Amino acid sequence: MVILASKPQILKGLEGVYVSETKLSYIDGLNSRLYYVGYRIEDLVAFSSYEEVAFLLYFYRLPKKEEFELFKGFLSGSRTIPHDVVELIRRMALRRAHPMDILRTAVSYLAIFDPELNLIGREANIRKAIRLLARVPTIVASIYRLSRGLDPIEPREDLRHAENFLYMLHGKIPTEFEAKVMDTIFILHAEHGMNASSFSSIVTASTLSDIYSAVVSGIAALKGPLHGGAAEAAYYQFKEIGEPENVDQWVREALKAKRRIMGMGHRVYKSYDPRARIMKELDAEIANKYGGEPEKLYRISIKLEEVALREFESRGRTDIQPNVDFYTPIAYTALKIPPEFFTAVFAVSRTVGWTAKVIEYTEDNRLIRPLDYYVGELDRKYVPINER
Ligand code: SDX
Repeated sequence: MVILASKPQILKGLEGVYVSETKLSYIDGLNSRLYYVGYRIEDLVAFSSYEEVAFLLYFYRLPKKEEFELFKGFLSGSRTIPHDVVELIRRMALRRAHPMDILRTAVSYLAIFDPELNLIGREANIRKAIRLLARVPTIVASIYRLSRGLDPIEPREDLRHAENFLYMLHGKIPTEFEAKVMDTIFILHAEHGMNASSFSSIVTASTLSDIYSAVVSGIAALKGPLHGGAAEAAYYQFKEIGEPENVDQWVREALKAKRRIMGMGHRVYKSYDPRARIMKELDAEIANKYGGEPEKLYRISIKLEEVALREFESRGRTDIQPNVDFYTPIAYTALKIPPEFFTAVFAVSRTVGWTAKVIEYTEDNRLIRPLDYYVGELDRKYVPINER
């Protein structure tokens, strides 16, 4: 065993390490910019749709009208999930499992129903990706209904992606505003560079395992509160604060106790997450329109941002700013999506990012296998158990 003469540099958390080239998204962390295939996120939210963003991420261009109709038809026509998967969800929901645990297991089970599961190559992967994109929302909506003792609602082919998701949740067609809020959230969460869950997906795919397994890896990684679980944690943080008047004292005590303010800070954004800015503007409209809990959460979040940024700045930390998870709880609450489903809704959207990243990476595949630096003993003498 060759031990290196000197200890190599250990890049904990792979911070600052580039693992591949991509055309899917660019994050300008210093200047609050996010692009999907060269289009600014602000323009995609204003003019596009989640379905069109999905086409963009799979084909690196915006669709022409006819091909877009075909793409949307394939997507909306693939929304139904096997009855066996519904029964598995029912059993796990009866045990009050967390929606992310049910989602992880349900997607794993869904895989065996795809006749192309182990087919490799771009075309097969795109077909499987679109089926996943179409079915993950149905799985999450089924988890929501069954965990409330309600029957799942069959997906409708005539509704847009965001519209159909809300319809399957609540059993009624959402208003245009509700559909726009949901579509905006889906667009904002679709893709985001080499984040932990996307990296998990390509590590799995790099072994030439299948795209369903790669998405299961992504779901498993997204669950954590340092990543996709942050919006749920941010919601409970707002509830713990309770009133805007409590924010000052809460922040002082939290930072003193070295707690993380959930929904703030980012490994890449050292400036304001542009997605948080978009959500903050939308939340202002939501607070005004809905009043009640969304409005109260909005007032607390605005005050928390103000006080936390002031406290961070007083500690010389201007690089810790709100991220996408800080302002989504207000919108989810208005859409009657409960906190334990926030991360699952993130997964509904990020399924396109995971699958697009897998398709892109495996086109020029290289097994992902980094090193760890051995610091233990060598050539230890094995002593039989009776002599230890
Ligand atoms: C997402 O990667 C992506 O792109 C992810 C994502 C995507 O779309 O895929 O953008 C989605 O996951 C957004 C992030 C959601 N997570 C949270 O909001 C959880 C709270 N945030 C932190 O835990 C933290 O900011 C991370 C994990 C997001 C990033 O942290 P880093 O880059 O690992 O930085 P760090 O943990 O080393 O923190 C550096 C310093 C530390 O202080 P010191 O120990 O050096 O004194 O900054 C402090 C931290 O304590 N810090 C915070 C803080 N974030 C960093 N202190 C208080 N509250 C925070 N939120």
